[in-house]
Amino acid sequence: MVLKSNKPNNNLQKLPPKQSLIETIAILKQESRSAVALAELKGLARTLPNPHILVNAVVLKEAQASSGIENIVTTQDKLYQALYAKSAKPDVATKEVLRYREALLMGTDLIKEKGFLNVNGIVAIQKELEENNAGFRKLPGTALINNLTNEVIYTPPDNFETISELMKNLEEYLNDDSDNVSPLIKLAIQHYQFESIHPFYDGNGRTGRIINVLYLILKGLLNEPVLYLSSFIIQNKGDYYRLLQEVRTKNNWEDWILYILKGIEHTAIETIKQINQINTLFSQTQQMVQKHYPRIYSKDLIEQLFIHPYCKIEFLVNALNLNRKTASTYLKNLEELGILKAEIKGKETIFLHVPLYDLLKKGKA
Ligand SMILES: Nc1ncnc2c1ncn2[C@@H]1O[C@H](COP(=O)(O)OP(=O)(O)O)[C@@H](O)[C@H]1O
Ligand SMILES: [Mg+2]
Repeated sequence: MVLKSNKPNNNLQKLPPKQSLIETIAILKQESRSAVALAELKGLARTLPNPHILVNAVVLKEAQASSGIENIVTTQDKLYQALYAKSAKPDVATKEVLRYREALLMGTDLIKEKGFLNVNGIVAIQKELEENNAGFRKLPGTALINNLTNEVIYTPPDNFETISELMKNLEEYLNDDSDNVSPLIKLAIQHYQFESIHPFYDGNGRTGRIINVLYLILKGLLNEPVLYLSSFIIQNKGDYYRLLQEVRTKNNWEDWILYILKGIEHTAIETIKQINQINTLFSQTQQMVQKHYPRIYSKDLIEQLFIHPYCKIEFLVNALNLNRKTASTYLKNLEELGILKAEIKGKETIFLHVPLYDLLKKGKA
């Protein structure tokens, strides 16, 4: 958000906040519940026949919701068309959401490769998202405004040196575990801090929410970016803005931290339900194909249908080492069973995995 403002510069404190404000009894109780749900999610994610099934689906939904928080709105249909149909011409919002997906996947690779998240990594993620080289803000004039009243609610630091210093402090906080504070509590704290530093001209909300998911991987609480937290935020958007602001105006860390902790618990439970549904659908699909087309059945074939909600001849050719004619027969057989539905897009035919697609569309997670 950019707006001219004459307000004096802010006085954002470095991390950490005072311990008595962030480890209250209410926070610690909620932290246990959130940690249990997240641990269950981590374990259950391993039971999927192939981790890409969940990662592909959740990452796209997270990209859609996190962008939706910033009023960048597209649909599941448009996103999948853009991903799978060569002839698709995605609109601006759809392209932006797909860039978010790329940035999140890139960030995940970065974390896994390096084992830490530093300032350079954060800048690289924002660059991937926004497709520009601007880096940290160097010009004044950025203010957070209330969209309804146009009133300036917060002016982030606008001096490049101050921003760099606060970001260095945030980097240390992200990578130092010697304080023994639960990483779930720290996730809430670092998100407030990142959004308050607001280091970039644009993309701060989305970059910050990518960091949230990456932080969980960094701390070993997830193996893959499968927590779809932006769904909770978009459903509780008023509280999200209000509580970010109350940390600043009322030192109200407790309600902010509780908000994020509840979001983690709620989203983990939703995602657990969805994994169970995917697992059930997977077994049903296996049985159906085994029964009606035992000749074409293999677990690898079924996995392909679940990794890509739209299947194509070339996927089967590459993954299963089939020739095009055989792959095409397989897809036709699956279409006869009602599992796939052929759609002609430009010069190609893509096959929608109908039950999976409906499941992903319906699920909040
Ligand atoms: N009062 C506030 N204090 C701190 N951060 C805020 C406040 N209100 C909103 N934000 C953060 O600012 C984000 C919007 O910043 P912006 O740079 O426009 O992000 P994006 O480009 O991803 O839309 C919001 O998603 C939220 O995370
Ligand atoms: Mg914006």
